[in-house]
Amino acid sequence: MSNHIVARNYEDLSAQAADRIARIVTEKPGAVLCFASGHTPIGTYRVLVEMARQGHVDFSLCHFIGLDEWVGIPSYSEGSCRYLLDTHFFKKIKVHEGQTHFFDGMAADLQAECRKMDETIARLGGLDLMLVGIGMNGHIALNEPGTPWHLRSHVAELDEMTCTVGQKYFNQETPLTKGITLGLQYLREARLPMLLSAGADKAPILRLALEGDVTEQVPASIFQVLEKGVVISC
Ligand code: PGA
Repeated sequence: MSNHIVARNYEDLSAQAADRIARIVTEKPGAVLCFASGHTPIGTYRVLVEMARQGHVDFSLCHFIGLDEWVGIPSYSEGSCRYLLDTHFFKKIKVHEGQTHFFDGMAADLQAECRKMDETIARLGGLDLMLVGIGMNGHIALNEPGTPWHLRSHVAELDEMTCTVGQKYFNQETPLTKGITLGLQYLREARLPMLLSAGADKAPILRLALEGDVTEQVPASIFQVLEKGVVISC
């Protein structure tokens, strides 16, 4: 069972998550960090940027893995994982191009894109951190309900709810049908799998994930069986 920490508020959640990530980097300067897109971790990235600016943590030897992308959405689009992390993290600290590894949602050969990501992670020695959020349908990254947990990088058909909720990342209505994502096998193998959930609208699905059945129908319920998992909610 993962360790579940109930934070006082969003600032506290962000500070606690950032603190744990900074500790990983202090212990292992060349850590491999998988960062999520989405609105929930933005506060965590803000705290990490501040820590880096003050010299409390140094990311210069780290590698960064992008968790997922929408298929058909270019990296310069405001809704992409790459764009969110560029905006809230990479552009604010010094990171070299060679340190970041993202899926290309525009790739002509998506299976080759998955193989490339799996090879990259294997070459880097696996993930030290896999930071994820929870979707309103219980998804983790773009692993939708019913997705087998043994998958590595794969292409996903998106749930209707994900396509609808996903509109919040875009300035105009954007058709979404597929995603390219790390699979949950990586969560099982990550040295620190960490789930962040903020807000009253997420509370019912988080409760179902942590207290209901452990089932592939609720991807986030995997945290019930991750011994090293950490869940921080508010
Ligand atoms: P959010 O997204 O952080 O924007 O709520 C979470 C998710 O869908 O995984």
